Formats: sequence, structure tokens, C-alpha cells
Amino acid sequence: MNVLGIESSCDETGVALVGFVGDARPRLRAHALHSQADMHQAYGGVVPELASRDHIRRVIPLTRNVLAESGATLADVDVVAYTRGPGLAGALLVGAGYAVALATALDRPAIGVHHLEGHLLSPFLSADPPDFPFVALLVSGGHSQLMRVDAVGAYSMLGETIDDAAGEAFDKTAKLLGLGYPGGPALSRLAEFGDPAAFVLPRPLLHSGNLDFSFAGLKTAVMTQYRKLGTNVCDQARADLAAATQAAIVDVLVAKSLRALQQTSLKRMVVAGGVGANARLRAQLDAACARQGVRVHYPELDLCTDNGAMIAIAAALRLQRGIGLATRDGAFDIKPRWPLDAIDPVVASSALA
Ligand code: KG4
Ligand code: ZN
Repeated sequence: MNVLGIESSCDETGVALVGFVGDARPRLRAHALHSQADMHQAYGGVVPELASRDHIRRVIPLTRNVLAESGATLADVDVVAYTRGPGLAGALLVGAGYAVALATALDRPAIGVHHLEGHLLSPFLSADPPDFPFVALLVSGGHSQLMRVDAVGAYSMLGETIDDAAGEAFDKTAKLLGLGYPGGPALSRLAEFGDPAAFVLPRPLLHSGNLDFSFAGLKTAVMTQYRKLGTNVCDQARADLAAATQAAIVDVLVAKSLRALQQTSLKRMVVAGGVGANARLRAQLDAACARQGVRVHYPELDLCTDNGAMIAIAAALRLQRGIGLATRDGAFDIKPRWPLDAIDPVVASSALA
């Protein structure tokens, strides 16, 4: 069974082919990605209309690349999976419309996938996949959440951000330091040259006792420190501020993850979403979890940020369990706002029969 995955919820067009036989572990056959970061860079953030138009331009050539690389043809595609939400409405419509049109033309079922479920299940394509149940830390540009994951489709929210997401905190600080968009990777590169102790920044909600996050205050504190430095800010001060910001975000993410593990008594953890690529987060979390006898699983580095493979694997794992909401009627909807714990009640799929 081959699942073609289409991701178009924000500023990356992702296409991938995931294959599986029976209930054996699904494998990534090929994936291709186009990031629109350069196009949005000039505006300091994603321009939704430009994003939609670019997805239209990219999705067919990317599909051709994936098929060529995997040695498959359209006739080998058994199911087309697409991101149904959450995300930018216009961008989602492009991927959903394309996926359902392709599925209809091929006389195959289509299946809409929750973007965060894709992130959450992306480690199942890694060399070291987790077993259920586990605690998941989902940290992306739009979300910061701790979830308890008991099975595919069984997600309960343990805590989430009450304002900015962790990725947003990286991006906004990076913008302030003149590092462009998206800022997370650039900020973490600059932080390598800085001293995290050079500035004292708050660790919001660190001692709140619950599992919620708040990063908006951190952004304000960084801005205040930056203004104090005046107009002649030197490269070392910028690097120090980047290092201090990264350390503050990572400290909070690690502390709350440990608390979630303690509260649930679980001994396995998954980190997914763009911020999961952050080297300091990985190092600190690995060290802290090792002391508690907890295994941490990550997606492959190139599958941390948005991609088509995570959509295909989420669909594949659902289909293997008979809980894929596959349709054949050519109809689709998108869900720009869609909390993960409000994911559709799982319904046995007959569309593949
Ligand atoms: O998961 P993702 O690609 O998109 C969303 O679903 O939002 O995450 C993108 C976010 C951006 O905020 C980006 O700055 C951040 O992930 N990011 C990083 C790193 N790589 C990506 N943040 C910190 N360190 C990184 N290495
Ligand atoms: Zn994402």
C-alpha cells in the first residue's frame, strides 16, 4: 500500500510517498519539499496569499519528483493524504483540492490529516520509533503543547501555551536581532557564539505548577534588554542575547516536559515540530531524561519542520488500524482552526474495502 502525502498548511509545500505491507512498519520511499522562506523573507513573515499561489506552482512538480525518486508511478498510489488543518485557509485549500482531485482522477480514496498529528507521528519514520504510550512535546511556529499519546488517534492535552508558541518566541527575537525570517535556526546559530548567562531573562510559568507555557513576556523582556543596549549594539551582545533567549525557552520546555513525565508516570517522550530541531533543546532534554530513565524519540532532522512525509505516515498508521477517515466522493473540507484533542472521533474506514 502506497500513501502519497501532501502538506500545504503554511509556507512549505511537501510531498512524500510512504509504503507499507500489511501491519509492517511503514517506510518512507521518497519525499520532496519546497520552502517559501526566501519569498516571505522580504515581508518578515508569511504572506498568506503569496503562500497559496506558490503551493499551486510547486505541488505538481514535487509530486513528479517524489514518484521519480521512488521509482513509482501514479498508478502505484493507493491513497492520497492531505493536510486538512490547522493552517492558513487558502494554503490548505490548495493541497486539499489537489489531493482530492488527484485521488478522484486515480479512482483512489483521499484522507484528510491533522497537521499536528502528522508532527506527533513523524518519529515513526525514524530509525528509532517510539512505542505507545508516550508524552509528546509539540513545539512549532504555531503551537506549543504537551500531550499524552496512548495510541494513534488517542491524544489528551496536558498543557499548552497561553500566548505565543515557542517557535514564535524564536522567530520574534530573531526578527528583533535582525536575523530575518524564519528566525529559529538563525537564532540558534548565533547563540553558539554567545553566553547564555550574560543576560537575566524570565522563565515564564516555570513554577506555575501546571503544564502551560507563556512566551509573550519573554519577548518583551528581550526587547527591553535590546533597547537598553542602544544603537551601538555589538555582535557579541547580540550573540549573548540570542544565547540567553534560547536558554530561557529551552529551560522552560525541559522543565515542563519533566513535569509531564512525572505526572503521567510515563517513561517515553517524543519531541516534534520545528523547534524540535533545536540542538540545545535536544541536548538538555536528552540529559535530563537520561537521569530519569526516560527515552526521548525525535523525527529525523529533516522531518522536524513541515513536510509531506509526516502527513503520509499519519494516514498510513490510521489506515493500518482501520481508523482512517478515507473518502471517495470527491468532497473535502478544510479546518483552519482545529485543536488536536478535538480530532474527529475515530470511525472505521470502509472506503478502502
Ligand atoms: O513545525 P514547523 O515547520 O511549522 C509549524 O507548524 O509552525 O515549525 C516552524 C518553527 C519556526 O518558528 C522556526 O523558527 C522553528 O520552528 N525552528 C527552530 C529551529 N528550526 C526551526 N527553532 C529553534 N531552533 C531551530 N533549530
Ligand atoms: Zn508544522
